[in-house]
Amino acid sequence: MKKVLFIYYSQSGQLEEIARSIARPFAEAKSVEVDFYEVKMVHSFPFPWTSDAFFNTFPETFQQIPEEIHPPAPKILETNYDLVIVHYQVWYLTPSIPVNSFMKSSYANQILAGKPVVTVSGSRNMWALAQDKMKVLLQQCGATLVGNIALTDRHHNLISVVTIVDWMFSGKKRKAYGIFPKPGVSDKEIEEADKFGQTILPYLKNLNFEGLQQDLVKQGAVDYRFFLVSMDQKGNRMFRIWSSIIRRNPKRRKRLVTLFKYYVVFAIYGISPIVYLIELLLYPVVYFLKYRKEKAHYEGV
Ligand SMILES: Cc1cc2nc3c(=O)[nH]c(=O)nc-3n(C[C@H](O)[C@H](O)[C@H](O)COP(=O)(O)O)c2cc1C
Repeated sequence: MKKVLFIYYSQSGQLEEIARSIARPFAEAKSVEVDFYEVKMVHSFPFPWTSDAFFNTFPETFQQIPEEIHPPAPKILETNYDLVIVHYQVWYLTPSIPVNSFMKSSYANQILAGKPVVTVSGSRNMWALAQDKMKVLLQQCGATLVGNIALTDRHHNLISVVTIVDWMFSGKKRKAYGIFPKPGVSDKEIEEADKFGQTILPYLKNLNFEGLQQDLVKQGAVDYRFFLVSMDQKGNRMFRIWSSIIRRNPKRRKRLVTLFKYYVVFAIYGISPIVYLIELLLYPVVYFLKYRKEKAHYEGV
């Protein structure tokens, strides 16, 4: 009997749906026992978000400052799992506060030390550098990353910003203003995520995960877009500066967070289209210097 643990946190339910879809083949296999563990915060985050709360979570999210979580059930802590599938959403180019808080807790050490882990992200589209941060968190727990699935909104970057804002601030995963596509990971991709479970299953049965990531990538598990990684890198540099300025000035926090909000809107709609055009023109040259290696890195584990 093989034992698999699915760990997740989800505000809208999207990541939970993804987890349950991936888990389907495991639950149907007679020789596999499946457990779910939902991370629960002591101080929960609002959903839908208000604009103030949304931007106010930025500094602590980016600086990966953990908060208190409720302990997992004793059974989860006591079971010796053969595989753990850790689901996370990206907040501000970083694993979300709930997942970061779990990963930095003693519970994570207890559950994950010495275990093979598959990571699954359900983000808008900018997940790459958050995955690098996740790798560090996993290493700190003594876990081994054996696979990664990065599910995203496949629509154009600027469209997905409009639709996610509507989703986060209304709490409804709907066609914004009646004309935009639905936000987030598509219903079809969520429903079909069980194919990843099918792929992982034989590796679990053999307790050998070599070659798993290549098989997952062949199934479209990783959405690598060179321009998004480039924006992610630039965003991380700017976010480092913004987050430390805000945290060093608690008295002026409200005003600085408002300024940060305007900066983000300007960066997305003012700067990014220009940078996109320049990088598109340079693509053939930069591909051999940078993107080829980068693609291999993000499609790997
Ligand atoms: C505060 C906040 C910041 C976010 N920042 C990012 C981001 O930097 N990159 C990204 O691709 N998605 C970002 N998202 C979208 C989330 O990764 C995720 O797709 C969405 O919140 C749905 O997750 P859920 O399963 O918790 O409902 C952000 C969401 C929130 C609430």
